[in-house]
Amino acid sequence: MPLLIKNGEIITADTRYHADILIQDETITQIGLDLEMDDEDLEVIDATGKYIFPGFIDPHVHIYLPFMATFAKDNHTTGSQAALVGGTTTFIEMCCPSRNDDHLEAYNLWKSKAEGNSACDYTFHMGISKFDETVESQLQQIVEDGISSFKVFLSYKNFFGVEDGELFQVLTLAKKLGVIVTAHCENAELVAQLQKSLLAEGKTGPEYHEKSRPVEVEAEGTNRFATFVEMTGATGYVVHLSCEAALKEAMKAKSKGVPLYIESVIPHFLLDKTFAEKPDHEGAKYVMSPPLREKGNQKALWAALEQGFIDTVGTDHCPFDIDQKAMGKGDFTKIPNGIPAIEDRVNLLYTYGVSRGHLDIHRFVDAASTKSAKLFGLFPKKGTIAVGSDADLVIYDPQYRGTISAKTQKVNNDYNGFEGWEIDGKPWIVTVRGQVQVKDGEFVGDPSRGQLLRRKPQYF
Ligand code: URP
Ligand code: ZN
Ligand code: ZN
Repeated sequence: MPLLIKNGEIITADTRYHADILIQDETITQIGLDLEMDDEDLEVIDATGKYIFPGFIDPHVHIYLPFMATFAKDNHTTGSQAALVGGTTTFIEMCCPSRNDDHLEAYNLWKSKAEGNSACDYTFHMGISKFDETVESQLQQIVEDGISSFKVFLSYKNFFGVEDGELFQVLTLAKKLGVIVTAHCENAELVAQLQKSLLAEGKTGPEYHEKSRPVEVEAEGTNRFATFVEMTGATGYVVHLSCEAALKEAMKAKSKGVPLYIESVIPHFLLDKTFAEKPDHEGAKYVMSPPLREKGNQKALWAALEQGFIDTVGTDHCPFDIDQKAMGKGDFTKIPNGIPAIEDRVNLLYTYGVSRGHLDIHRFVDAASTKSAKLFGLFPKKGTIAVGSDADLVIYDPQYRGTISAKTQKVNNDYNGFEGWEIDGKPWIVTVRGQVQVKDGEFVGDPSRGQLLRRKPQYF
């Protein structure tokens, strides 16, 4: 059924204008003034007073995740509907085999979990937790299947983490295949030693999580990853960069011309380490890695985002409920790491960035959508509003005022780390390839509309 969106203000990463948008067969077919169409099936939406953004892309989420002796709480049904209500029309999920898992089996498992269950489009970063000839040939098959980004962890020793030799081999293969490598950059050995010392001193509460992974640990990991990227000629992407010290290391590489991109995630822009210091184990809700930092780091992150040095803003969405967080009572190293945010990223970034004057609206669209589409081989199908692009649109109400609450969220969790936070805007209508999936802020669409987005290598 054709869809005509009239009178909205189109805002992309580089343009802003009033026009109508005509959508046919999942695609934008016309953009112009006073568009009309003679078709009795035509659906017309009046977007007067609303912004129209390209569908937002979350470049870093965990939906299915066996981790720290439990599983993240969302499945693809809850996670994708939460994403859509929050304006995210595509997410990139981390496929995370552990060191003992067969990587091809893991890839097929992750695909089977998503297939038919996602309401929004999706793809994967292929996690690599060991490297040998079998893994190498499996990775080639996975790239041929349309996955053109890898993920490595320098942390989580003996589980997801890779050794330096393996990191070198992954990057060398990635260079050969034209694949970008995303990396969690914390020095695993330092974390292990610091955790041991803190526990031995009886420092067991969630407030010690940050002390076991101080900024130096992340700066070292970031510098090491950047150096390996430079030495191998690969293209790298630092995930969830959280602090000024790591930013300096990444900037040093960028300024030498090393192809290194930076993602930061919404919790690190807004929450600081005092949240993880809340009494009665409430701080456990705010345990993630890298940890929430001293507030001063946020100023550096916002400035780097505004200037485009931080390329993308994701979530690292990873929900664990209060009972799961309680698994780490008496030993902070057993608190499942993760903070959910897939539903709130866009509204929080819009509110505390654009609406409160810290972020240009075009940089907002770029960081929350367009840049991820470009870096991960989705552009211009995704990430922009143009004739020929997929009709993934967010008709956004900038007049909306409300607060975030776990009581109303779609995410499958019993708390929200941003409980009570004000938001200055909200998606009113969201389309996925031309179909209205969200109306009046509610999910009303097809729970299995989402497709796996197969991507081509691009970094030769
Ligand atoms: O705390 C986090 N970040 N949990 C998810 C796993 C990861 O490191 O991305
Ligand atoms: Zn991580
Ligand atoms: Zn993650």
